[in-house]
Amino acid sequence: MTTDLDALRDRLVSAVEEAADLAALEDLRISALGKKGEITAHMKQLGGMDPEQRKQMGQALNQVKAHVAKALDARKAVLENADLEKRLAEERVDVTLPVAPEPVGSVHPISQTIDELTAIFSDMGFTVAEGPDIEDDFHNFDALNIPPEHPARQEHDTFYLPPVTEDQAHMVLRTHTSPVQIRTMMGQKPPIRVICPGRTYRADYDATHSPNFHQVEGLVIDKATHMGHLKGCLIEFCKAYFEVEDVPVRFRASHFPFTEPSAEMDIGYAKRDGQIKIGAGDDWLEIVGCGMVHPKVLRNCGLDPDVYQGFAFGMGIERIAMLKYGIPDLRTFYEADVRWLRHYGFAGLDIPNLYEGLSR
Ligand code: PHE
Repeated sequence: MTTDLDALRDRLVSAVEEAADLAALEDLRISALGKKGEITAHMKQLGGMDPEQRKQMGQALNQVKAHVAKALDARKAVLENADLEKRLAEERVDVTLPVAPEPVGSVHPISQTIDELTAIFSDMGFTVAEGPDIEDDFHNFDALNIPPEHPARQEHDTFYLPPVTEDQAHMVLRTHTSPVQIRTMMGQKPPIRVICPGRTYRADYDATHSPNFHQVEGLVIDKATHMGHLKGCLIEFCKAYFEVEDVPVRFRASHFPFTEPSAEMDIGYAKRDGQIKIGAGDDWLEIVGCGMVHPKVLRNCGLDPDVYQGFAFGMGIERIAMLKYGIPDLRTFYEADVRWLRHYGFAGLDIPNLYEGLSR
């Protein structure tokens, strides 16, 4: 009888040791130790035996059972370990591979355009100057030769802020970047060469106007600066910015209270398949207001107009971004729509420079 049990034990143990996977092992456990299992069937016969035999058989069966259970546990551990090794191998992550090919974030076209402007003008020797978005009347208007009764004040659709205390004058949200000219001239000695990109505000809203928009101002002050320098500087800028060798430009006489003479510069373009193509063509687009800094403005900033002259220019950043990148509606710049950003955005690590190209 015990030899039969030895044979049963050896058969079950070797089957367990050969089980190929965890599912096969579980089947084996059920067929040996389950309710209808082989060992269980032997256990059931104990009831019909006499006490002495039952004791012997009971002990022997318990040993077999313990043996098989131990073999099951050992095999289970081996198979689980193999399973883990296999998953680790399959799900292995090579941390030395390059980062995800799909960039997650992107640079907004406004930031990209400011970076491009900065690259172009810093190559010409300009530095970047900044000023506050909340200005006083002096910097936004008076110092720029726009006295309170001047009609230009109406044209600016100014946002006036309520005074904080009763005896305080109101402040304004700057309507252009020109107050940064004033701050620069009052704060540093010529020669001056700065560009001032930044946020500007006017109470206006349609497909080409937004209450919050961006401008870039340019200012050059020195002892022998003249209109030729202004023209050369802006033409050079257009070539670099629009990345075309031949950009026809024309200067039209204009008026700004803070420049004399004043001009507006247009660039040539052609319409092809409904798309604007900057360069040779029959049509003109106005992109920048400019002129020689008005002697009164120089004087307001403590500079002697008989010694110093200079030029200034200002343009809308959204406008030049729309022209270069074919963005049809100004309002989309501020809607924070990720699909729009995915389409018009720029890779985060491609910082524009003139040597590798501005917009890659
Ligand atoms: N500040 C003017 C505007 O907002 C632009 C400008 C700047 C014109 C400098 C001439 C010189 O429209």
